[in-house]
Amino acid sequence: MKKIIIAIDGFSSCGKSTMAKDLAREIGYIYIDSGAMYRAVTLYALENGMFEADHIDTERLKKQIGQIKISFKLNPDTGRPDTYLNGTNVEDKIRTMEVSSHVSPIAALDFVREAMVAQQQEMGKEKGIVMDGRDIGTTVFPDAELKVFVTASPEIRAQRRYEELKAKGQAASYEEILENVKQRDYIDQNREVSPLRKADDALLLDNSHLSIEQQKAWLMQQYERVVGLL
Ligand code: DC
Repeated sequence: MKKIIIAIDGFSSCGKSTMAKDLAREIGYIYIDSGAMYRAVTLYALENGMFEADHIDTERLKKQIGQIKISFKLNPDTGRPDTYLNGTNVEDKIRTMEVSSHVSPIAALDFVREAMVAQQQEMGKEKGIVMDGRDIGTTVFPDAELKVFVTASPEIRAQRRYEELKAKGQAASYEEILENVKQRDYIDQNREVSPLRKADDALLLDNSHLSIEQQKAWLMQQYERVVGLL
């Protein structure tokens, strides 16, 4: 069967990755979490002392961006891909609140986006890929055969992230998470480079009141419809 590119964009914590990962596994596609790549660059900047309060040493980061290589490797225990930063597994480290609260300004830097988009396009060269993020249908793969734009209310998304962190044993307050979700929405939608927006030809999915199973079934139907048309 002909392989396609599936682009899933939307707000933070709206369950994009869960549905994208599950679909990829079911249809035997590669799954790429592009947000994890911006998180890994943020971790790199934090670990290398490039943040001074809220100020970023962009000159140093720019010089080193070419040395930041992000890859994904399937974790046999979880059946899902883990994120590697220059060969080191950083899957847990990139999901902390510290990284979450520093990632937006990093993802707004044009030279960071340029480097990540180039790595993402390389990963999609052979098609057969599901990628989720903010600008996949608009910038990374404007010709993707299937594009979905996912949304849900900020309160529902904050609740989901709160439960996720709690399940991992990471302390967090709901109010703090909600504030972080709203702040990231604002920055994601208002930044100059590749702001978050729905591509004209993307399908809109509001999953505020859908179960994971319902979303999964919907996405599978869309995939089958698109490949059926080829
Ligand atoms: O999806 P996430 O919360 O893991 O994304 C982390 C950050 O990276 C978020 O602030 C938005 C940004 N991002 C982006 O700018 N472009 C993408 N393609 C994916 C994520």
